[in-house]
Amino acid sequence: MKTLILYSSKHHGNTEKVARAMGEESGAAVRKLSDIRPEDLDGFDLVGFGSGINGFDVYPDLTALVSGMPDRKGQKAFVFSTCASNKDFTGKFRTLLAEKRFDVVGEFHCKGLWTPLFFKIRTGHPDEQDLMNARAFIRNLIQ
Ligand SMILES: Cc1cc2nc3c(=O)[nH]c(=O)nc-3n(C[C@H](O)[C@H](O)[C@H](O)COP(=O)(O)O)c2cc1C
Repeated sequence: MKTLILYSSKHHGNTEKVARAMGEESGAAVRKLSDIRPEDLDGFDLVGFGSGINGFDVYPDLTALVSGMPDRKGQKAFVFSTCASNKDFTGKFRTLLAEKRFDVVGEFHCKGLWTPLFFKIRTGHPDEQDLMNARAFIRNLIQ
C-alpha cells in the first residue's frame, strides 16, 4: 500500500517522532507539511495526517492544506496527534477530511511534552511505549 505520512510538529518535535516511527515501521514516505502541496497526495493509497494540538484543535496549517484540496474521491486517510491530555482533539479535522471525501480508516493519539510558561507537562512523551503503540497502529492499519 503506497503510503504518505504528513506531519505538522512545531513545538517539541513530538508529532515528528511519531511520524518517523510510523514511517520506519511501514516504509511510508514521511514529509513535513510545509514541504507538501495538495497535488503531492495524488497516487498514494493511504495518507496519514499528524499534528500537535493547539487550543483543542490541530494546527491551522494542516487545516489550511486540506481546506484547499479538491474532492479526494475516497482516498484512504488516517489521523494522528500528540497533545498534553489523553483526549482526542481531532474531531473537527476529521469532519473536514470527510467533507473532502477522504475515507478515514484510523486514528492514533498519544501524549506529548508541553512546556507552558515554566512548567513541564508530560515529560518524556512520546516515550518508547507510545512509539511502540504507533508502530503497532500502522502495522495493523496496513495489513
Ligand atoms: C500554544 C499551545 C497550545 C496548546 N494547546 C493544547 C490543548 O488545547 N490541549 C492539549 O492537550 N495540549 C495542548 N498543547 C500541547 C501540545 O499539543 C503538545 O505539546 C504537542 O505534543 C506538541 O506537538 P509538537 O511538538 O509536534 O508540535 C498546546 C501547546 C501549545 C504550545
